[in-house]
Amino acid sequence: MDQNSLIWYNGNIINWDDAKIHVMSHVLHYGSGVFEGIKCYKTSTGRAIFRLEDHVERLIQSGELYGMNIPYTSLELIEACKEIVSLSETDDSYIRPIAFYGYDTLGVNPKNCPINVAIGTFYWGAYIGDGALEKGVQTTISPWKKFSVNSMPSIAKGSGHYLNSMLAVIDAKKRGFDEAILMNEDDFISEGSGQNIFIIRNGEIYTNDENSSILLGITRASLIKISTDLDIKIHIQNLSLDDLNNADEAFFCGTASEVTPICSVDDKKIGNGLPGKLTIKLQSIYMDIVRGANKTYNNWLTMI
Ligand SMILES: Cc1ncc(COP(=O)(O)O)c(C=O)c1O
Repeated sequence: MDQNSLIWYNGNIINWDDAKIHVMSHVLHYGSGVFEGIKCYKTSTGRAIFRLEDHVERLIQSGELYGMNIPYTSLELIEACKEIVSLSETDDSYIRPIAFYGYDTLGVNPKNCPINVAIGTFYWGAYIGDGALEKGVQTTISPWKKFSVNSMPSIAKGSGHYLNSMLAVIDAKKRGFDEAILMNEDDFISEGSGQNIFIIRNGEIYTNDENSSILLGITRASLIKISTDLDIKIHIQNLSLDDLNNADEAFFCGTASEVTPICSVDDKKIGNGLPGKLTIKLQSIYMDIVRGANKTYNNWLTMI
């Protein structure tokens, strides 16, 4: 990890190496944390954090969905993210706020456990791997199903949720693929291990929603808005494996993955097996926006 030397921890700026927790902390045993992944990009007028307010809102909402009242206001968390980024010199950085139950009891009910909040920032290159954005990725349908919304709220970004993602991505890598696609319990497509999925057919865009057990990605919402502004028809619906296999184009999207073309699913090519035209166009518009080169969407940027 190419980390910054400092970290925001419960309201203080401390050295990265001093940001520790007790091994008997509730979060370590039960995954009782909620977190965010946010990106800051270099623009021609300085560094800008993409959709910071929306990420902070989702963090607070994720906490609420687990009955965790994060002891900072959204304004305080926004300022904290800006502060920790301003203390780093990295041009492009990933910001990772996490709120978690700390050390008090190991009863599953976290009742008296303190709620700690930390925000770290570090450099994170292409999430799925070098060249993924340009060349696209080879995916596989995971033998692991996405957890049901009746078991855990998929719209919360809960730490424990990622055990499901971890199983899927470890299995995919072991079998030589770049990334996994998880089906939900109804056998519709859910999402990648850390990305939402879009499909393109006949120039129209299809994606699913929380009914398919997905995290409602902020990149997903951004691309829906961008596509709507481009007068591209968008369908929000359940997606079957046939829909994906018969798509002209498909892509993953997420803060870390940005817009990553999907070239194949279990060795079956999507379209001609190369990044699709509309995918490349959306990727280029998205990258322009996050880098401040598309003024129409400058309200999504928080300058440092
Ligand atoms: C499971 C999952 N789905 C979707 C996303 C995309 O969300 P966002 O665009 O808000 O980063 C992520 C990213 O963190 C994720 O982990």
